[in-house]
Amino acid sequence: MLKHAVLVALVRALQTKAAPLCYLDTHAGRGRYELRGEQALKTLEYRDGIERLLGAAGLPPALADYRAQVAACNADATAIEIYPGSPLLVRQLLRADDRAILCELHEEEAAALKALFRDDARIAVHRRDGYAALGALLPPTPRRGLVLIDPPFEEQAGEFAVIEAALQTALSRWPGGVYAIWYPIKRGADVVPFHRWLAACGCERVLAAELLLRPADSPLRLNGSGIAIVNPPWQIERALAPALDALARLLGDPGVARAELNWLAGP
Ligand SMILES: C[S@@+](CC[C@H](N)C(=O)[O-])C[C@H]1O[C@@H](n2cnc3c(N)ncnc32)[C@H](O)[C@@H]1O
Repeated sequence: MLKHAVLVALVRALQTKAAPLCYLDTHAGRGRYELRGEQALKTLEYRDGIERLLGAAGLPPALADYRAQVAACNADATAIEIYPGSPLLVRQLLRADDRAILCELHEEEAAALKALFRDDARIAVHRRDGYAALGALLPPTPRRGLVLIDPPFEEQAGEFAVIEAALQTALSRWPGGVYAIWYPIKRGADVVPFHRWLAACGCERVLAAELLLRPADSPLRLNGSGIAIVNPPWQIERALAPALDALARLLGDPGVARAELNWLAGP
């Protein structure tokens, strides 16, 4: 939810200018998820997640916008059955001249993605390694926009090294792009080297938005998550701060959950 609320806010911020944009999703997934499907029913994660947001009152604008985008994928906005992944959320926001490039390595997921967007000429789906795509497909046309890097983090610490190498290549090819990188937080200390790398990567502005639902002290469970934003749109922190605070209140352990917005480089 953090990732997708931030994603919607980033696209909206880029769309305050009329010039078209390109969205590149390196790890796109299948595009949308059935909450009544076998996997979702097994974990029932959505009950402690998106369902808490559906009935919440007084949401800050960025969170209300994200909720509206989720609701738009469902016939009944109060009892959702479809949860949109990043590709579908962004597709709903694309304007006529905007484009999207979606990369997904796994056959079944990529096939589902291709089927979902078959009739949309603005969207290209590639079955390929999303990290390698950064070296091959950047800079995009139009040369303005956003890259989401959202890997599965199967190898925890090792994934950061892969992200750093891919980002270095991406930034050398397209220094003006906005990059949003999602990461899990188990122990806070595990994220520190990545933050240091971002602070020293040569970009003038890097913002980290984090949501900690429990104390970040156990390597065995997901205690929170973060999104690092390289070259964030102007004043995006004003939209994100109240949205993060509201998510912490809605989703986290009372008295423990907290949101953080920190500049790793710049302001
Ligand atoms: C966390 S999910 C992506 C979720 C999606 N971005 C969303 O927000 O709805 C990660 C996806 O990355 C895919 N994947 C794993 N390794 C990959 C790689 N090297 N390149 C592209 N996709 C990969 C997995 O199959 C999985 O669907």
